[in-house]
This record gives sequence, structure tokens and C-alpha cells, in this order.
Amino acid sequence: MKARSPADSAGIISPSLERVLASARHVAVLTGAGISAESGVPTFRTGGGLWERYDPHQLATFEAFSHDPDLVWSWYSWRRNTIRAVQPNPGHHALVEAETLFPQFSLITQNVDNLHRRAGSREVHELHGNIERCTCLNCGRFFHEDEAPPTETALRCDCGGLIRPDVVWFGEALPLTELQFAQQAAAECDLFLSVGTAAMVYPAAALPLIARQHGAYTVEINPEPSAIAREMDECIAAASGTVLPVLIDAARRHRTTA
Ligand code: APR
Repeated sequence: MKARSPADSAGIISPSLERVLASARHVAVLTGAGISAESGVPTFRTGGGLWERYDPHQLATFEAFSHDPDLVWSWYSWRRNTIRAVQPNPGHHALVEAETLFPQFSLITQNVDNLHRRAGSREVHELHGNIERCTCLNCGRFFHEDEAPPTETALRCDCGGLIRPDVVWFGEALPLTELQFAQQAAAECDLFLSVGTAAMVYPAAALPLIARQHGAYTVEINPEPSAIAREMDECIAAASGTVLPVLIDAARRHRTTA
């Protein structure tokens, strides 16, 4: 891994990365809570993050919801209200442009905050679900934000079943089609960007490693080194809202003048 510090920020984009940006045919990006930090959405494990105030297994599990649906539902309602009040940041917007800049672009996110779609990304592969979508525990019917508003007490479907957030809780399986898409994109891409994730939760954290094993150039964008930083070709120790627009500018320069 070749670590870079913000001191190199004049040249955030290394010559190696510049070359890959100019030639890459398939770029894959994995995002974590860090890409939404500059929008004001708390991350999970850093800087007074959500989990530091709550025991994850107290709230984000099927058992917790079964035991106290109102507590878990009200926590998610608080998170939904927090997310509704914020806006996508330049990092999200840079990835919207990336969709049309490269011949193939795969956006994979661990985030459930829907900020990529709100920024305008058209194809988002959500490994951990989407907090603005809910589903009935009993009949599986889906509800969107306005049909299942963020109330203080859990809601019930017409069939009588409890309505839960459509997010992947600890101990639950990831949506298979999304995981298979992500693993294939990691195996086939030329450039893999791991953006704003501590890389502590698998199988998402394995994606950059799959990309590296298949010959992709792998770059981490995170002010702090993640658990897999040493496995990456390059780490840019800076905020994604700063780096991604510069990275997309560099790619656009190469692709519009070519
Ligand atoms: N730009 C880039 N990275 C940032 C920024 C920023 N502006 N601010 C913080 N970060 C980094 C932190 O250094 C940290 O490494 O974002 C990372 C956030 O890590 P976590 O809070 O652990 O979030 P994440 O990696 O997405 O968690 C993965 O764990 O709890 C589960 O389901 C939950 O999807 C989540 C998964």
C-alpha cells in the first residue's frame, strides 16, 4: 500500500491513479457511512458515531424488534428524520457523474440513507437495504416513506403484520442478488474505490480484496486507515467530499479530450 497524506493534496490524484482513470473501462465503487458524514449523517464507529451511543444488538436485530418493536421503530424513525433533514454532498454528486463518464460503472453501498439516489444516481446496489423503504413482517408487502411515516410507535400492515424497516439487521442475510452483483463487479472491474468505510463488516469488506485479487487497481478514500488499508494499492487520507470531485475532474479531462 502506498499511503498518501493530505500534505500531497496538491496532487490528490497520483500518477498511477491518473493512468487508471484515463484507461479504466469498468469502475466499481463501494461506499460506507463516511461518504454521508459530510452531509451530517453520523457514522457508526467513528467520531461519536451511532453505535457508540447504542449497543448495535440492542436495536439493529430481528430479536430486538420482536422484543420491543416500538423502541426499534422509534430509533429508525429518528434516523429517517435525521436523514430527511440532510442533503447529498459533493461526494455523492461526483458519483452521479461517474455513471456516464466510464463505459461501465458499478455503485455498491452499505448505506441505507438513500443519499445516492437523492443525489441522482440511477443504479445503486444496496447491500444493507434502504431505510426509506419498509416491509411487512407477515405478508412481505413493501411500503415507501409516505405510506409508513416515521412515527414513535411501530405500524401494522392491513394484514395485521408488523411493518419493519427494509434494512439488513445483524445476523440477517444480505439480499443475494445485490451481493452477487457486487462480487461480480469487484471481480471484473479495472478500478475499485473503497470510500468511507471502516471495512469491519463482511461480506462487504471483502469486495476490495476480491477486486485486488482479480487485478483491479484498488484505492481507499478515508481520512483514517480502514481495517484493510494495507491491502489496497493506494490510500488517499482525505474526505470523500474533497477527493471524489477531484478524481472525477481528472477522469473527465482524460475522457473528453481523448
Ligand atoms: N470521507 C471519507 N471517509 C470518512 C469521512 C469522510 N468525510 N468521515 C468519516 N469517514 C470514515 C471513517 O474514518 C470510518 O472509517 O468512514 C468510515 C465509517 O466507518 P463506519 O462508521 O464503521 O461505517 P461503515 O464502514 O459504513 O459500516 C459498515 O456496519 O454497522 C454496520 O450496517 C452498518 O453499513 C454499516 C456497516
